[in-house]
Amino acid sequence: MSEAVHVLNGPNLNLLGTREPQVYGAHTLSDVERLCEAACARHGFSMVFRQSNREGVLVDWIHEAGREHAAGTLAGVVLNAGAYTHTSVALLDAIKGTGVPLIELHISNVFARESFRHHSWISPAARGVICGLGVAGYALAIEAIAQW
Ligand code: DQA
Repeated sequence: MSEAVHVLNGPNLNLLGTREPQVYGAHTLSDVERLCEAACARHGFSMVFRQSNREGVLVDWIHEAGREHAAGTLAGVVLNAGAYTHTSVALLDAIKGTGVPLIELHISNVFARESFRHHSWISPAARGVICGLGVAGYALAIEAIAQW
């Protein structure tokens, strides 16, 4: 059975394409899904691609990924937690509590933006962080998971 990669997207990422295009570019979330699908296919991964505006839903999805990881059916998680990156101890606890191998991803370079975006609650529990490479970062994260 092939391993899965879960690509989880947090609040406002459903607005990609129309949301601050000077910051996030013109690609839609559907474009990102296609890009991830192609990257997963290159490595024989199946893919779960999701977006929610709700913190607790993201926590539940990390728990689900953790169970799959424990069962040996999950290769890794790519998480763009959006603004919850900068606020959510619950997401940190979910990642630590499940031990799920995860890459934190940001489309924009958060360090070149407002100072409140410079702190991430998630980074200490992430295997790696990709930021500022646009939506191409999603494919690069999947390439990294394939090297684990
Ligand atoms: C983001 C950066 C966050 O600061 C912001 O709140 C987002 C998107 C990014 O992909 O660049 O919603 O995670």
